[in-house]
Parts: sequence; structure tokens; C-alpha cells
Amino acid sequence: MTESRENWGSKIGLILAMAGNAVGLGNFWRFPYVAASNGGGAFMIPYFFALIVIGLPVMLVEWSIGRYGGKHGHGTLGPMMYLQAKQAMKPKKAIIVGSLCGMIAFGVTILVNSYYNHIIGWSLGFAFNSLTGGYKGDPGGFFASYIQDPKNLVFWVIALLCLAFAVMKGIQKGIESWAKVMMPVLYVFGIILGIRSLTLGAPVNPDWSSLAGLNYIWNPDFSQLSWQSAIAAAGQIFFTLSLGMGIIQNYASYLQPDEDIVTASVATISLNEFAEVILGGTAVIPIAYAFLGPEGIKGSIGLAFMALPNVFSTMTGGGIFGAMWFLLLFFAGVTSAIAMYNYLVALLEEDAGIERKKGAWIVFVGYLIVGLPIALESILTQSANLVYFTEVDNWIGNYLLIVLGLIEIIVIGWCVKDKALEEMNRGGLWKVPKWFFRLFHQFLTPITIITFLVFFTRDYWI
Ligand code: PHE
Repeated sequence: MTESRENWGSKIGLILAMAGNAVGLGNFWRFPYVAASNGGGAFMIPYFFALIVIGLPVMLVEWSIGRYGGKHGHGTLGPMMYLQAKQAMKPKKAIIVGSLCGMIAFGVTILVNSYYNHIIGWSLGFAFNSLTGGYKGDPGGFFASYIQDPKNLVFWVIALLCLAFAVMKGIQKGIESWAKVMMPVLYVFGIILGIRSLTLGAPVNPDWSSLAGLNYIWNPDFSQLSWQSAIAAAGQIFFTLSLGMGIIQNYASYLQPDEDIVTASVATISLNEFAEVILGGTAVIPIAYAFLGPEGIKGSIGLAFMALPNVFSTMTGGGIFGAMWFLLLFFAGVTSAIAMYNYLVALLEEDAGIERKKGAWIVFVGYLIVGLPIALESILTQSANLVYFTEVDNWIGNYLLIVLGLIEIIVIGWCVKDKALEEMNRGGLWKVPKWFFRLFHQFLTPITIITFLVFFTRDYWI
């Protein structure tokens, strides 16, 4: 099996595919609203703390588990954890922990895709409507009528077909080539929107300049700090870096055996954070702030699909900027969803012996089925409450990814120990020092995650 496995075709292809994996709706849809509803600047303190103390160590672990597992031809989190852990744990324990994680990670991937793909479909639909002036008459209310109209589900199906075709073609011809086109365009659109946003001035209210919006996100009000914002920050780090689900491992499993893990991890994190904090933070929040003020920027789907269309319909050249914004969301979503899709197809291919093309169609049908609750919720109830959507996203961000990451870091830090460090450093130009591994992987990272979880849930058990 190892011989028939593809590898990444080029360094730049690998970096762009990895950036495509991490940079997603999490950066442009999720980050601005999570930051805005958790205190703005005050959110950024636990956010950066979690980036360094949780994001970096877990990313290093996931790259090395992936590359290590790749040798054995496995594309899933469970077996790879098992392979690494069995050197140190009794095989029976390793099998239990490995399969349990694998199963939860599989379930979480399915759950994420029950709503993620809808947002990709909406982005495509809204890009189209930006150009045709579809939402100009009633930008705030357009979203509700959009999701209640079954015809618009066609954009969701088109999005799913894009994913299926990209993944079907394999690593180099499919995933890598799509990332090479979509990622550079995404960064260019993000930079244009960021510049536009900062040069908006104060079009509606003198107190609401776009620079005041920037201030909101960069100037912390310490009284807003809470365990809720800490857990939201940790969850956002997992979500935005694609950690905790086996998705990074899957891409890392196509690495050459001596590829540099440290450089790759740092490059993925840097490209992602540039897109999240600089582009997501300066393009989205200040634009919305300038037109809608401090209250208008809160709210999840509300911000991306109601508040921003409102902005674009009043702004000069709004049709073009609107199309740019929604295409940016579409590209970001597609390149991340491809990563999740490939993980499921690899699982079918390598664990169940199902050929790639057939596997891609099975996942396509599976996605249609798991996407039904959201597709039907608004059509049947003729409302836009999206109760299921919000609930699932909260569970994933606040608990599921964080708990998976915690198990992973404990297995690697305490059961595999120095063998894991050796694996991380094999072949690389940059090495992770022993003190770093001891301090972070064994202590700071698990302790921080446990502390956040305990304090966040303390009301349930005190
Ligand atoms: N990281 C991607 C984003 O920011 C989404 C994602 C989450 C992908 C979890 C895989 C796993 O949107």
C-alpha cells in the first residue's frame, strides 16, 4: 500500500494545500463573530495565548503523527495514534485509545460537514446575487428568504460537486492544483477588501469609523475577560488550524519521509494567522463596524450574510466588493472542505479498500444526507433561526475538538514521550528543543486545556 501512495508534487503545492486546509470559513466567517461576541480586544488575549501554548504544540504533533502514519499507509487519526503509542503503551490500551479517538474524530468530521458545506453553498449563491443585485432591495432580510427557497439548494449541490471532483483527481492533480489557483486569489481578494475597509472613514456615524472598528478588536477592555472567552479562543484555535480531527494528519501523511515538520508547522500557522487576524480581522470587522456600529458586528451568520450584504448594498462599487467577499468565503471554504473530504475518502480507500472515485461518490451521498437537517430546517419551518446549526457549531468549538486535542497531547507527551520528539525532529532543518517538548507538550498544553475546560464548565458540577 505504501508504494501506491501519492506524495505532494512540489513544496509550493504542499504549502498552498496546507494553507488551503487551515484557511477556511473559520478565518472569515467564524473568527470575526466569535471575537466580536467575546469581548473584541479582550478575546485576543486568550486567543494569542492559546495559539502559542495549544496551537503550535498540537500542530507539531499532528504533522509528525501524520508523516509517521503515512509510512504505513493509514489516513486516519485512530490507527496513527495507535502506531505511535504502541511503542510505549500496552497494545491493548493503545488500540482502545486509538480507535476511540478515530471514531470521535470521524463523527466530528461528519458533524462539521453537516453545516460547513451549506455555508460554502450560501457563499457561492451570495457571490452570484452580489453581481446580479439580488439582495440590493432588502439586504438584511434577503438571507431568510434565500434559505427558505429550495431552489437555492442548487448552490450547495454545486459546491459538493466541486469537492467531489477535486478529491477524485487525487493529491497532485486534484487537491494541489485547486489550492494553487484558489489560495493566491483568496489572499489578493482579502488584501483588497482590507485596504478598502481601512479607507472607508466614517460613512454613517462619526463615532463608527472603520478605524474605531479596528480599535475595538485591538484595544482590549480587560473587564470583558472570562472563562467563556478563554474556551471560545481555544476552540477557535483548534477550528481555524484544523486541529483535533485528523485532517492535518491526513495531509501530512502524503509527505516525503524526511520533510521538515517544524518549518511546515510554522508555515501553516503563519499563513493561517495572516489570513485570520490581519485579513479576517481588518477586512470584516472594521467594514461592518463602519456601517453598523458596535452592536451590528455581533452574530454568527448575521455578520457574514446579513450585515455585510447591507454594507455592500450601500457602498460604492458594492456589487464587486460583495462578489469578492463571497468568492473569498467560497474559496476558503472549498479548500478546507477538500481536506476534510479527502480524509474521508482516504479512510474508505485505505481501511475499506474502496477505490478513490467510488469513495468520492459515497462521501458525496453521505454529505447530502447529513446536510439535510439544515437544508430542510429553514424550508420546512419557514424561519431563519438555524437552531441546529448554532448548537452543532457550539459543541464542536467549545468541547469536541478541544477534548480530542487533549487526548492527543497526553498520549504523545506522556505515553510516546521522547520517541515523539525524535520523530518530530527527524530530517528537519529546525529542531524542537527538548526543553520545549518537556515544558509545552508535557505540561503547559495539557494543563491549559484542562484548566480552560474545568473553569468553563464549573457551573455544571459545583
Ligand atoms: N480550518 C478550517 C477553517 O478554518 C476548517 C476546518 C476545521 C477544517 C476543522 C478541518 C477541521 O475553516
